[in-house]
Amino acid sequence: MIIDFKNADVKNLENYKQKAMDAFNTLIEKKGEGNDFLGWIDRPIDYDKNEYERIKKAALKIQSDSQILITIGIGGSYLGTKAVDYAMKNYFGNTPKTELIYAGHQLSGQYLNELIEYIKDKDYSINVISKSGTTTEPAIAFRLLREEIEKKYGKEEARKRIYVTTDRKKGALKTLSDNEGYETFVVPDDIGGRFSVISAVGLLPLCASGIDIDQFMDGFKEAREEFKVNDFEKNTAIQYAALRNMYYENGKSIEVLVNYEPKLKYISEWWKQLFAESEGKDHKGIFPVSVNNTTDLHSLGQMIQDGQRNLFETVISVKNVDKDIEIKSDEENLDGLNYLSGKKLSYVNEMAMEGTTIAHVKGGVDNLRIELEGINPKEIAKLFYFFEITVGVSGYMLGVNPFNQPGVEEYKTQMFKLLGKEGY
Ligand code: PA5
Repeated sequence: MIIDFKNADVKNLENYKQKAMDAFNTLIEKKGEGNDFLGWIDRPIDYDKNEYERIKKAALKIQSDSQILITIGIGGSYLGTKAVDYAMKNYFGNTPKTELIYAGHQLSGQYLNELIEYIKDKDYSINVISKSGTTTEPAIAFRLLREEIEKKYGKEEARKRIYVTTDRKKGALKTLSDNEGYETFVVPDDIGGRFSVISAVGLLPLCASGIDIDQFMDGFKEAREEFKVNDFEKNTAIQYAALRNMYYENGKSIEVLVNYEPKLKYISEWWKQLFAESEGKDHKGIFPVSVNNTTDLHSLGQMIQDGQRNLFETVISVKNVDKDIEIKSDEENLDGLNYLSGKKLSYVNEMAMEGTTIAHVKGGVDNLRIELEGINPKEIAKLFYFFEITVGVSGYMLGVNPFNQPGVEEYKTQMFKLLGKEGY
C-alpha cells in the first residue's frame, strides 16, 4: 500500500506537524479521552490465540454443514465483515465456501421476509453479533430468525448452529447465550464496534466464507509496524491526519472517498462509519461521503468538479487486478473505438482515474491517493489499520473523543418513545 500526496497542496503542512504529533502521542500513549477503547492498536500481535483457533474450528463446522451463514449485526458489528466479504467475492455467481448473508442492519420487514424465503430450502447457521447485546435491529432479527432455525432443525440442532459474538460478561444476548448454551465469542472490552473487524466480530464470518484470516491478521501486523512509528516524516497516517486537519481549517469540510473498482464499495461504507462516528461531535467534523467511479462521474462528478469548493478527495486505486479484458480491433469501427484496440480495460479505467484527478485538481479539489497493491485480505487489513490510526489522530486534533458515539442514542430515544418502550 502506497500513500501519495503529489496532487495535494502540502505547502503549509509543516504548520500542522506538531499538533499532529501531539495527537499521535496522545493516542499511542493512551493519554486521551476514550483511552479505554484502544485495544485495537496492539491487537494484531496481542490477541487470544485460543479463541482464534476456536474461530477456525467453528468456521470449518459452518462450512461443512451450512450453505449460508446469516450474519446478524449493525454498524461496527456488520460493516467490516461486509466490506471484506464484498471485496473478495466474485461479482457474479461464484459462491464462497459458505455464503454470507446479512440481517439486523436495518428494520425492513420486506427484507427479512425475502431472506426467510431465500433460506427456506438451504442449510444455514446464524452468527449474531452485538457488543452491547441490546441493539434493537439485530435483536429483532435474531428473535425472528431463531424461530425459523428452531422450526427447521429443532431446538437441539439449532443450538449447534447458532454462534454468538458479544460482550464477555454483560448484555441481553450474553444472558440468552448462556441460558441456551450457544458457542460464544467475545467482543473485547477495549475495542469499540467500528474498530472490531480484527476480533471475532469479523474473523468468524470471514473465515466461514473462506477468507484467509491468517493473511488478514498479517496485514494488520505489517500495518502496525508501519503506522505506529513515532516519526512524522515516515508515518503517512500521521501526515494524512495533519492534511485532513489543514483542509478542514481551510473550509474543506467534506471528504470524498473515491474508488474505480466497484468491489471496494463497502470499504467506503465501513470508512464512512469509522470517520462519521469518530469525528462528528460537538458540531465539528469532516463529513465523509463516497463515490464509485466511473459510475458516479456521471452523477456526483458534476458537483465535485463544479460545485461549492468545500471538499477534498481521497482516491483508492488498485495496482494489480486479478482479471482483465482486452479491447479488440473491429474492422468496421462504427463505434469509433479502434483507438483503444489492444488496450486492457484496466488501462482505460486507470486513464479515467488520472484524467479525473487532473480535472479535479484544476477545478480546485485536492486529491490524496492510496494505492493498494491488489485486492486481497492483507491489503484491506492494512488499509483498515491506516484509517484507524488516522481517525484517532484526526479526532484528537479536532478536539473530540474519537472513541465514543453519543449522537447515536438520540434517534433511539425518540424511536422508543414512539414505540412505547418502558422507561422512555
Ligand atoms: O462503532 C460502534 O460502536 C457502533 O457503530 C456499533 O458497532 C453499533 O451501534 C452496533 O452496536 P452493538 O454491536 O452493540 O450492537
